[in-house]
Amino acid sequence: MNVPIKTPAEIDKMREAGRQAASVFEMIIPHVKAGISTGEIDRLCHEYIVDGLGSTPAPLNYHGFPKATCTSINHVVCHGIPDDAKKLKKGDIMNLDITVRTADGYHGDSSMMFIVGESIKGERLSRVTRECLYKSMAAIKPGVRLSELARVIQQHAEANGYSVVRDFCGHGIGAGFHEEPQFLHYDGYAPEADIELAAGMCFTIEPMINAGNYKTKVLRDGWTAVTKDRGLSAQWEHTLLVTESGVEVLTARSDEDLSFLAR
Ligand code: MF3
Ligand code: CO
Ligand code: CO
Repeated sequence: MNVPIKTPAEIDKMREAGRQAASVFEMIIPHVKAGISTGEIDRLCHEYIVDGLGSTPAPLNYHGFPKATCTSINHVVCHGIPDDAKKLKKGDIMNLDITVRTADGYHGDSSMMFIVGESIKGERLSRVTRECLYKSMAAIKPGVRLSELARVIQQHAEANGYSVVRDFCGHGIGAGFHEEPQFLHYDGYAPEADIELAAGMCFTIEPMINAGNYKTKVLRDGWTAVTKDRGLSAQWEHTLLVTESGVEVLTARSDEDLSFLAR
């Protein structure tokens, strides 16, 4: 496996791409509430990425994906297609996944959950899923294997009675939206895929955690992935840089407390 190591100049471009992706969330967060449609959320993000940032929404036309962002509600695991007719209602949980490609051609990919109104079950699932992301981020440093990060995620999810989606994974990222390595969020690595992290690698961690069974299926639109058992699913994602001492969170948002990473 040929996992790219970014040069200092590339790392600077990745930092800018990550900051831009984070800024889209900072813009959209106040708009996400009951009554707005996922089509409107997508339009606001798309306009901001193009007109505000001078960049491109990477999902648009990616293998034919029709929109700028992915909006995945309740039992939708990932790749939900924004839709003007789909309005958020109280009790919904939604993942919004944003990937920016900068004018220099580098990618920042991140996603977060929104709880619309109140959902006790949804909040717990979202919190545990974010903890899976954060605990695995805290384990990143050169020499650590991908399977060690995956085990952190799987143990925390399963200890809370949840399951880890197997059909979708994290990925290397840079000038390519999806580069090597593949990052499985469960312990299913072939020996040659279980690489050791090295400083200068950029990749995403984006666990999809289900309240019920891990199995998924894709709807007839060819994109929308749902839980087979129709149970709730949550996901959080960051674009990460492996550093000599640990990790740099390229898509960190201003609303996040990442002080647990201080070392
Ligand atoms: N942003 C997603 C990821 O985390 C990929 C979306 S691809 C799309 O890798 F085509 F569905 F938009
Ligand atoms: Co991703
Ligand atoms: Co993403």
